[in-house]
Amino acid sequence: MAKRNIVKFGEELLRKKSREVTVFDDKLWVLLDDMYETMRESNGVGLAAPQVGILRRVVVIDVGEGRIELINPVIVSAKGKNRAVEGCLSAPDQWGYVVRPMKVKVKALNRYGKEVSFEGEELLARAFCHEIDHLNGVLFTDLADEMVERDD
Ligand code: CO
Repeated sequence: MAKRNIVKFGEELLRKKSREVTVFDDKLWVLLDDMYETMRESNGVGLAAPQVGILRRVVVIDVGEGRIELINPVIVSAKGKNRAVEGCLSAPDQWGYVVRPMKVKVKALNRYGKEVSFEGEELLARAFCHEIDHLNGVLFTDLADEMVERDD
């Protein structure tokens, strides 16, 4: 595994729509492993492929409940509302309140191309929404209703 450079806000690439994955080979597995290492070393809970410069619909998440890999993910249902402070590894100094669903169900493929589904609440639901937004060129600052100062 290798740590990759994280693309920062302001770079045009983060505004592009990512393409679906059609080939489930070792190149994809290396990308997934590298993304996970990059996320963990940066103390993040989620990372989308465009954040490492790859415009493919690939996401890794770990909110402390284990590693989740999503290929071509789709949100199939969303319930409730949850307003909380959110950040992004592509904008290490920015934080803001974003309203997200309290609960979401996601359908995706795993690294072998097999269908998987997940349910997430609170932080995990937020991570699903935030990372899937990245695949469509949407950043949390587009959705934040209030930015906040944080000194850590
Ligand atoms: Co992000």
